[in-house]
This record gives sequence, C-alpha cells and structure tokens, in this order.
Amino acid sequence: MLSSLRTGVQGVLRAASRNIQTSAALQHDSLFVHRDTPEDNPDIPFEFTEQNKKRVDAILGIYPEGHKRGAMIPLLDLAQRQNGGWLPISAMHKVADLLKLPRMRVYEVATFYTMFIRRPIGKYHLQVCTTTPCWLRGSDAVLKTLVEGTGCKVGGTSPCGKFSISEVECLGACVNAPMVQVNDDYYEDLSIEDTKEIIEKLKKDEKPKAGPRSGRFASEPLGGLTSLSDPPTGPGFGIQDALK
Ligand code: FES
Repeated sequence: MLSSLRTGVQGVLRAASRNIQTSAALQHDSLFVHRDTPEDNPDIPFEFTEQNKKRVDAILGIYPEGHKRGAMIPLLDLAQRQNGGWLPISAMHKVADLLKLPRMRVYEVATFYTMFIRRPIGKYHLQVCTTTPCWLRGSDAVLKTLVEGTGCKVGGTSPCGKFSISEVECLGACVNAPMVQVNDDYYEDLSIEDTKEIIEKLKKDEKPKAGPRSGRFASEPLGGLTSLSDPPTGPGFGIQDALK
C-alpha cells in the first residue's frame, strides 16, 4: 500500500517535470541508534584529563545537591571537546557515573541534541544551513563549493580527516544568510569567494575571520539605517506643558 502510494506520487512528480529540491541522504544527526564499532564501543575507556577533572568539579559545584543532573549538557560538551569534537559512548557512561544516573538518561539527552556528534568527525566540522532563507540566498552554491574544496561528501569526512560536512537546519542567523558554522564560529553573508578563502585558511590551520563577510558589523541593514535614524529624543519629549 505504502509503496504503491509512493510510486504514484513519484509518477505525478515526474509528470510535472519540475526540479525537486532534495535533502542530502546523510546528515550530522544520522546516527540515531548506537552501534558498537571498533572506534566507539563501551570497552574503550574514557577518562577526563586532570585539567578537565577540575572543570567537572567546577561545573558540578554550580548545581545544588539533588539537582546535579542539570550539569549533564555541560559535562557532555566538555567530554566531546576533549575527545576531538565527538562523543563516544564511553564518555556518556562516564557522565552517567558522575551524575549517578541510569545510562539511559544520558543517552536520551545525547541523542536528542544535534550538538552532540556521535561518530568520529574531522578537525573542522562545517555545518551548512540549507533552510529556506539561506537556500534563497545561495546555500546550494556554498555547499557545493565546500564539497569540491574539501573533497568531503555531505555527512562524511574528507580523506585527509580534516573536514566533516553536515547539512543542517536553521542556525538562527537567517538575516545574515547564507551562513556556515565551523566548530564554534559562524561565517555569514557568504559569497563563493568567501567560502573558498575559508577552506584555504582552514587547510593551513589558520583561523578565517568569523562573522559577516559583507562589511556589516552584525545584522544591521546593508544600505544603512531605514528606521530609528534620528537622534533619540530626551526625557520629557511629547509631554504636555502642564506636566513638565
Ligand atoms: S535559514 Fe540559515 S540560519 Fe536561518
């Protein structure tokens, strides 16, 4: 029933002879269920470094007794950063032990938030927003440039191991579309040239300039202010004389 329905829909789409935008088959949150692999299984030990153990204590210290589970996301994030940008299952177990919680409680959080990457990933994680505002502003071309420039497929890691590309939903910088997130930084108002420059810099392990590339400071109008352009009026403005 389902397959005949699908076939019918595909026929209608073909008949309409329109170009249909499709999403990449693989995305960064493609791993919904853990499967043991040689590089990610519970037998591989995970321990926080001495420096990070101090951070763990500091994070746990923020939360009062009885509410330590509130530290779960910061601890998972710390574990992910220590582990080169991805979160192995052993690290989830470590966090569960620290918080004295059933492991399932940690799995629930780590699988819900796409900020937790549960597969080995390149040094630079390029997250390309392809949601409507970015798409209308050329995210397809940005994504293509990244794929060609890094030799990395969407949802995969480049042969050199340096880059991973994910196609993601809105990252909240729509006013500065199109944009790409590289690790913790946003690169916005991107042209193809900007995208190429970012790849070349990252290849040399240099840090490209983050933020908008259009000359804007943030998300103000490109052509100057269109409202609130007069100097602000002082206190008492518009109040009738009798009240002054
Ligand atoms: S649509 Fe790309 S950041 Fe919102």
